[in-house]
Amino acid sequence: NEKFNIAIDGPSGAGKSTIAKEVAKILSIDYIDTGAMYRAIGYKLGQNQVDLTDKNALRQLLEETEVDFEKGDTLLDGEVVNDKIRTPEASKMASVCSALPEVRTKLVALQRKMAQKKSVVMDGRDIGTNVLPEAEFKIFLTASSEERAERRFKELQEKGQQSTFQQVLEDIEQRDYHDTTRKLNPLRKAKDAVELDTTGMSISEVTRKIIDLVRCGR
Ligand code: C5P
Repeated sequence: NEKFNIAIDGPSGAGKSTIAKEVAKILSIDYIDTGAMYRAIGYKLGQNQVDLTDKNALRQLLEETEVDFEKGDTLLDGEVVNDKIRTPEASKMASVCSALPEVRTKLVALQRKMAQKKSVVMDGRDIGTNVLPEAEFKIFLTASSEERAERRFKELQEKGQQSTFQQVLEDIEQRDYHDTTRKLNPLRKAKDAVELDTTGMSISEVTRKIIDLVRCGR
């Protein structure tokens, strides 16, 4: 019954969170959604209209901010923000604020602490390369940008949010660009990560592949 960590990285809409949740459930371990943490901070920065070039204001806000998970809910300063952080604005703010060193330093430290004492599945952009370089299992999930936009578009439609497929595709490609070209911990496949292209694969097929990998490797 040894402790182990699974790092899942990849671009927006590759299915990371859906898959990570499934894997965590099957293995009875915790799931940590690091994107939700950047979204929560981005959401709060937007709500407070913080000028991102004002480092003092930024530091002050970060000091007074608490992000946590409880029974699958994302908590921002104790308030459940699951839906508030899923809007297109919050997505953009998350991507923008995730390039700020102050934000990354705070969240990466928190993420490492969360994975220290227990087995977790953690998903994001820099988990295998930066947050948990010693993770026992590393997966890099990809899919074509059209397929990823298609999935996100359906998700947004189900939630009744108004956006066109073209908007969603542009949004995804812009975030890919931001996430892969930023200086600080850009999205990259770790050398020792297993790459899985999920284009045309079902959720259960991808989940099964990862579970097999973990069961073989333990
Ligand atoms: O995964 P999700 O789309 O919820 O992440 C929102 C944004 O947070 C991403 O576009 C990315 O800019 C940022 N992020 C990050 N590092 C992570 C997880 C997310 O920079 N580990």
